[in-house]
Amino acid sequence: MTKRFSPFLLIALFLATTFSCSTEKKEAQQTNPLMRNESKIDSLIKLMTLEEKTKLLHASSSFTSGGVERLGIPELVMSDGPHGVRMEHGRDWEFDNITTDSATYLPTGITLASTWNEKLGYKYGTVLGSEANERKKDIILGPGVNIIRSPLNGRNFEYMTEDPFLAGKMASGYIKGVQSQGIGACVKHYTANNQETKRGSINAVISERALQEIYLPAFRRAIKEGNVYSIMPAYNKVNGQYCSENKYLMEDVLRKEFNFKGIAISDWGAVHSTKETLLHGVDIEMGTELANKTRKNPNYDEFFLGNPVVKLVKEHPDYEKFVDEKVRRILRVMFAVHKFDNNRPEGERNTKEHHELARKVAEEGIVLLKNENNILPLNDDIKTIAVIGDNATARHAINGGSSQVKAQYEITPLEAIKKELGDKYKIIYARGYEPNKENAVIPELEKEALNAAAKADVVIYVGGWLHNLPGNQWGKYRYDAEGKDKTSYEFPFKQKELMNKLSEIKPMIAVIFGGSFARHDKWVDNTKAILFAGYPGMEGGTAIAEILSGKVNPSGKLTFTIANKLNDYPSHKLGEFPGNGKDVLYREGIFVGYRYFDTSGKDVMFPFGHGLSYTTFDITNIKPENKEFSKNDTVRFTVDVTNTGERDGAEVVQVYIYDKFSAVKRPVKELKAFKKVFLKKGETKTLSFELSNDAFSYWNPLKKSWVTEPGDFDILVGSSSTDINQTATVTYK
Ligand code: GLC
Repeated sequence: MTKRFSPFLLIALFLATTFSCSTEKKEAQQTNPLMRNESKIDSLIKLMTLEEKTKLLHASSSFTSGGVERLGIPELVMSDGPHGVRMEHGRDWEFDNITTDSATYLPTGITLASTWNEKLGYKYGTVLGSEANERKKDIILGPGVNIIRSPLNGRNFEYMTEDPFLAGKMASGYIKGVQSQGIGACVKHYTANNQETKRGSINAVISERALQEIYLPAFRRAIKEGNVYSIMPAYNKVNGQYCSENKYLMEDVLRKEFNFKGIAISDWGAVHSTKETLLHGVDIEMGTELANKTRKNPNYDEFFLGNPVVKLVKEHPDYEKFVDEKVRRILRVMFAVHKFDNNRPEGERNTKEHHELARKVAEEGIVLLKNENNILPLNDDIKTIAVIGDNATARHAINGGSSQVKAQYEITPLEAIKKELGDKYKIIYARGYEPNKENAVIPELEKEALNAAAKADVVIYVGGWLHNLPGNQWGKYRYDAEGKDKTSYEFPFKQKELMNKLSEIKPMIAVIFGGSFARHDKWVDNTKAILFAGYPGMEGGTAIAEILSGKVNPSGKLTFTIANKLNDYPSHKLGEFPGNGKDVLYREGIFVGYRYFDTSGKDVMFPFGHGLSYTTFDITNIKPENKEFSKNDTVRFTVDVTNTGERDGAEVVQVYIYDKFSAVKRPVKELKAFKKVFLKKGETKTLSFELSNDAFSYWNPLKKSWVTEPGDFDILVGSSSTDINQTATVTYK
């Protein structure tokens, strides 16, 4: 018996379809891909039971969140990490140990940011998104943008910089690249995850001004400019509340001030409540530790956002609207990552192009800190090179914590130096030191290194930091790693003593790996050249060798201040790192990094934004278009940049502002624009910059809003935070 529709129902259906078609047409034009399916989402939510809605709010396996099979709503599939798609471990945590999940191991965040090249950030994201797509992931859990508040933070290598503007710009390029592949990015960790010590419980006590000016801007830009689809709140508390349920951060700032339409995905095991989280917390609870009870095959429905939500809503039916809001946001992201139409571009993995991009980022991200008498690039009057140091042969990809990558290969500096320079020079190698638990000198290795140096014309020392000792991915012997902070601002395994000796007996070039540097000592003054490589990825060795040989002209710039000693950093000077185990007070406020060093006039070893080239540049002829501006005006100005040296190269022109008269203490400079420009030798280009009003404003704690004060502002333009070549004064009316 066929069911006959009443004429009224047919009319209603016709109207609903027609109406929704025109609405859908309007929605489809939405600029924000997250907002193109509201009508469809309305219909879907209407069909879902409360139990089904709740399935979407929490994990369904180690790296998936729930779907509703009955309605064709699939699971969301996530993967780490910020610089490569992590290897497969199925629905639990036991890695599959298969051979088809190796990936392109890109340079880590600190090296990407050191390129100061947003376009490269976009290409980087495109590679990452394409590989995530090929591995059938929907969301890649990166970029990490937390501010470098101390050189000891274990995850600095994964993050980018001490400056929020640079972090936001580099993250936005990365995010747009990832999302161009139909994959969602996930900017993390929101916010103030600036240490690993007690990361799961530490309470960061931060003034609203420091939050607004330092710890929130990178996330704001990731949302406003990058249009990121997801965000991951941090494990820690901010001002007394866990980030995953923090009303100020999650509701007042993220949902209202930033108008964020995407999803908040908890860190793994970072949710601590049902009601608080339902009312103003994350949308999806991830993790396998069920409140740290079980890790093997937990019953995911028992998560805070599982059955307890069903129970709570049954007791308070008006809470269902909070469930619906989360489900709406999750469905928005599912539509945006094509879970319902599958029309993503074709994903690729480990292609030549991907590996070449990894090399390109390393080439542009390695920073030439020092080059006395232009000892670099290596010239013909040397015959023998002694390569010394464990990092000359170490591989890093698989270590560091959740950001680990099973690289398809990782070319070591020694392999690359032999390949690039072996025909021209005699290369001898000595390990010099061995990573060891006792943090001790290995006498025979030291002796061998000194002998090698004695036989050579020049020493290339490749050392610095590493992620962890073998087998210490989560163990005691971690350095640049998730879950643990460094305990010293000295390179491990007594490298300083070895470097001091080597740099006294022969001209030395130092290549330093790490998410930070080390305190000043004799070797820094004796060493003729220093390259800071961060963690330059699978082709990092090649990039190092190409820079040493001169095939590549370095153009990286420091994204963090290298101070002479640990207690020069404000967080340490104030005794506020890593806090007392319960609270960590951000008493330095906004005076983080160069904002502190330049304002206090404190000398540093190498300043923020510093990086040398094999050529020289001149920045001249600053010309502001308008000397005065008011609320809705933009300050426009141009500068000329000339390559005054003997070879092609790239310069990063940095623009800082200084509020000469302000009601509150402001830094003597704040980065508000930058451009990387490639110039042939002798070439001059005119760069134009625009600074909108917000580039001059500060967060007024009393008015609780951004304020630009009437008066004079200096615009400072240079090739580093301390190398200012041009200044202009403009007046805000
Ligand atoms: C980790 C990290 C986070 C990562 C997640 C999944 O604890 O803090 O960055 O994405 O868990 O591995």
